[in-house]
Amino acid sequence: TRVALLISGGGSNMVALARDMTGDHPGRAKLVLSNVPQAGGLLKASALRIPTAVVDHRDHDGRLPFEAAINAELDSARIDLICLAGFMRILTPEFTHRWAGRILNIHPSLLPKYKGLHTHRRAIEAGDTEHGASVHMVTGDLDDGPVLGQAVLSVRADDTPATLAERVLPLEHRLYPAVLRRFLAGDTTPVTIDARD
Ligand code: GRF
Repeated sequence: TRVALLISGGGSNMVALARDMTGDHPGRAKLVLSNVPQAGGLLKASALRIPTAVVDHRDHDGRLPFEAAINAELDSARIDLICLAGFMRILTPEFTHRWAGRILNIHPSLLPKYKGLHTHRRAIEAGDTEHGASVHMVTGDLDDGPVLGQAVLSVRADDTPATLAERVLPLEHRLYPAVLRRFLAGDTTPVTIDARD
């Protein structure tokens, strides 16, 4: 399986996935693609010797031309599976339909709670005592596909969105590789990581 990792920023989840795959599946990570030319994750991918590509959404007049450019990069790298890892563009139903069953995403909440942005702030404001991250199949609806795994932690009384995000991110780095391994092995049992106090 030839995996592409799509990023927009620092790419810490991409690094976790690439490191885990390089472990016992030499070089399954065949491409790191960013919509942001200056994304820090591009440098990290190069350091891991993974080919990179930039498809800047600002260079394209609309979502479909943007996604056509992404697909061209994916096709030339003969990609079979997409892992969205901090990729911050909403994909059209056309794109998610084309990649149905072969595109995963990590989202920093216990889905189906808090789809969309500012998840840590929303969990704190709701007074939730638990929070975490989810890896799910990507469908046409935002943050809505079948959940393949979740990591849960306790929200602390003194947590801020920043401190909570700081504690969720390392869990993401454990969750996503574990889910990808099972997915690649055809094992659909959900991954659960319980990091509650
Ligand atoms: C993380 O909060 C992740 O949950 C979300 O994007 C943020 C940055 O991830 N998907 P990364 O460091 O770029 O992997």
